[in-house]
Amino acid sequence: MVSIIERAPAKLNLGLDVLGKRPDGYHDLDMVMISIDLCDYVTVTPLEANVIEVDSDCLKMPNDRKNDVYKAVQLIKEKYHITQGVSIFVDKSIPVCAGMGGGSSDAAATIRALNQLWKLNMTLPEMIAIGMQIGSDVPYCLKGGCAQVSGKGEIVTPIACELSCWVVLAKPHFGISTRTIFPDIDCDQISRVNIAALVQALKGNDYPRLLAAMGNSLEDVSIAKRPFIQKMKDRMVKSGADMALMTGSGPSVFALCRTEKQANRVVNSLKGFCQEVYKVRTLL
Ligand code: C5P
Repeated sequence: MVSIIERAPAKLNLGLDVLGKRPDGYHDLDMVMISIDLCDYVTVTPLEANVIEVDSDCLKMPNDRKNDVYKAVQLIKEKYHITQGVSIFVDKSIPVCAGMGGGSSDAAATIRALNQLWKLNMTLPEMIAIGMQIGSDVPYCLKGGCAQVSGKGEIVTPIACELSCWVVLAKPHFGISTRTIFPDIDCDQISRVNIAALVQALKGNDYPRLLAAMGNSLEDVSIAKRPFIQKMKDRMVKSGADMALMTGSGPSVFALCRTEKQANRVVNSLKGFCQEVYKVRTLL
């Protein structure tokens, strides 16, 4: 049986603005996301038997129906009346519950792989409709790169930019589940982020303006729960990062650096303070 291997990159939020609460309990968001070269790999192998098998090298990832990869297979099998089974193995490098969209990216990679395996000819909007039933970050992850993401997460507009820099990423010893952060938001009090300015800065490849426009409306709420996030940010900036920001609902924090030397200094400053530290590049 021929297997299909899909790369599933992690994402970072250069910007995350919460516009308000929706009648369905979710929030209208305006975000800018980029992919980085910290990737999971999803291997999809067809099976004769009509079963869905999901496995990974990560003990923290559930292998049952709760897994987003499992949900992706189930939704596609139902929609297209597929009676063939699949076995999926996820080679995990992206930390779990970290704000880096790992589970969403795995689900998106699964949708792309099954589209190819079962020759479904799904268009991007069709894949987005399936992705949205799994999680709000899945639509973005289907294409990745640099994009503005709005609505609940289903409106994805690519941004043409040449942001090429070093990213130092630190994941603390604890995780944060997104659904524990949103209920604590007061949309009238929250600090707002100018996403339009951020998009303009990216389009104009204006690095200083980009740094000035970056922000995350969820940061205050997550820092109030976990002050360690602020400590990581302070350390990164003190050691020479151009900017340090929490991604998604946290708890991971990333630093942008123009030069590798700068990035190395930031990595060194985190030694003994935070165990999981990655030095990566943006993937555009
Ligand atoms: O869609 P997903 O399962 O990734 O969302 C996780 C949680 O984040 C939701 O339960 C909800 O509390 C919150 N959320 C939100 N508005 C969005 C996306 C997510 O309130 N647009």
